[in-house]
Amino acid sequence: MSAAPRPKTPRAPAPGLQQQLPELREGQSIALLQELHILTREGKLNQDTRRKLKQVYHLVQFIEPLLAEVLGEQGDVALADHGAGKSYLGFILYDLVLRPRGAGRVFGVEARNELVEKSRALAQRLGFERMQFLAGTVQQAVGDATLPARIDVVTALHACDTATDDAIDFALARDARHLVLVPCCQAEAAGVMRQHKALALKRTPLAELWRHPLHTREFGSQITNVLRCLRLEAHGYDVTVTELVGWEHSMKNELILARRMAGDRHGQREKARQRLLQVLDAFGLQDLQTRFAV
Ligand SMILES: C[S@@+](CC[C@H](N)C(=O)[O-])C[C@H]1O[C@@H](n2cnc3c(N)ncnc32)[C@H](O)[C@@H]1O
Repeated sequence: MSAAPRPKTPRAPAPGLQQQLPELREGQSIALLQELHILTREGKLNQDTRRKLKQVYHLVQFIEPLLAEVLGEQGDVALADHGAGKSYLGFILYDLVLRPRGAGRVFGVEARNELVEKSRALAQRLGFERMQFLAGTVQQAVGDATLPARIDVVTALHACDTATDDAIDFALARDARHLVLVPCCQAEAAGVMRQHKALALKRTPLAELWRHPLHTREFGSQITNVLRCLRLEAHGYDVTVTELVGWEHSMKNELILARRMAGDRHGQREKARQRLLQVLDAFGLQDLQTRFAV
């Protein structure tokens, strides 16, 4: 019987390489960057994936302090990344933040089985043993008993359409302390607005905001993110909305950061909930109550 392959040792960049490539971080695994095709076999930065690395680093700046905070308090942290794709974010977070600390787990949730298989194989090759990958939708992950009951940090980057909303469902069900969301386009709200457009135009001049088809799509996307923020506030989270710089190739660069606040905050939660219901009503989106006002 042949012996199981030994994990590739994540190597620190050679001093010369670090100087040539300022993008590399101290102690970063060269093997990982090569496997993710960010570095070529010759140790050069791949121009196509260089931008991806920049984007992920930008997010790491936001996420590292959250992981460190939870690790500092609990000695462990669980992060779930929804719509993980090739898991660039999960792998780089693990390599830069969790591996050096020797603690913390990453769970990648991805609907495409072949991507999950590749991520599992890569984690095994690198010996990243506290990374797990779940093949299935975010919706399925909400009730998945194999995942920990509490997940501290939930991320979803460009998880398609309503997968961001499912990631919020997941975060609420798992009592997440932090959410980091970069929503993708969401077609559901625009669909409802389109359906009731004639009625809305009779009712209010504000319906001009979504009369033209392009505006229906764009306004639908914006109102969706507004509803997501209100929903999180109604559940006791403090929400910050900012821009994800370095994401120039994509129009979807809104970054939503949510932190669960201590205490009951009944008054603030109720106010947000009332605002949420009013916004749904004002824009003829009552059909979406079950999505957002829960
Ligand atoms: C645009 S890619 C983003 C990948 C990754 N988050 C990134 O930023 O590089 C969206 C990914 O979400 C996955 N996806 C879409 N809907 C999903 C769902 N409902 N549940 C799980 N994964 C989903 C797709 O298969 C795809 O890999």
